[in-house]
Amino acid sequence: TSSQLLAGKKVIITAGPTREHIDPVRYMSNHSSGKMGYAIAEAALKLGAEVCLVSGPVNLNAPTQASLHKVNTAEEMLSAVMAEVQDCDIFIGCAAVADYKPTQAVDHKIKKSNIELTLTFVRNPDILASVAALPKPPFTVGFAAETQNVAQYAKDKLARKKLDLIAANDVSRSDIGFNSDENALTLYWADGEQPLAKANKQQIALQLLEAVAQRFNQKHS
Ligand code: PMT
Repeated sequence: TSSQLLAGKKVIITAGPTREHIDPVRYMSNHSSGKMGYAIAEAALKLGAEVCLVSGPVNLNAPTQASLHKVNTAEEMLSAVMAEVQDCDIFIGCAAVADYKPTQAVDHKIKKSNIELTLTFVRNPDILASVAALPKPPFTVGFAAETQNVAQYAKDKLARKKLDLIAANDVSRSDIGFNSDENALTLYWADGEQPLAKANKQQIALQLLEAVAQRFNQKHS
């Protein structure tokens, strides 16, 4: 039955934002609340999966049956994912990982002065691309948070990062995406697409996982 679509599968989900340290009291981050990723974790458990939730700092309670890894930075998130990915069947990257971190995290509080302050940044590792590039990658699902050319950028990410499926999220809308209780996605895979109409994140999560399970079974049949 569809109630146990993911029985026996290990699913890793990243959720929430990352925080990149500027100095001991400051960080750079984004508006991700973790709601979408946590909803996917809940839904995967309902579908019978073993769930590993790798979460940035959020104000949500993780489902008690999930194994929870709390992290702050993108580097920590990458380490936690790599430690768990060996026997993983499905990886879903829902976290809003900071693409950049400050070139150096200063070990004392930066004092203000009257001159302009310039910070420089270096690229963070791409967790999703690292997972997809493993010799034996799990079924790899990414999100694409875009404010323009949503479909095109999402399809580019699907191909460039060698993903099995991508969920395009139009984050220019304030009624869906970051921090809201509802979302709407368009799923793309190599030879198909499926829109998921606006609904609460619990419903979106379930529909996403149903599509993922179907593609996963197709790939392994
Ligand atoms: O947390 P909520 O408030 O519920 O909001 C949900 C959400 C809008 C954050 C979520 O639906 C979403 O779109 N998550 C992806 C956010 C994002 O960072 O998208 P991106 O297009 O910048 O990244 C593309 C993909 O690469 C994502 O799967 C991301 O997890 C992954 N990535 C990005 C950069 C990086 N260094 N490592 C990554 O793994």
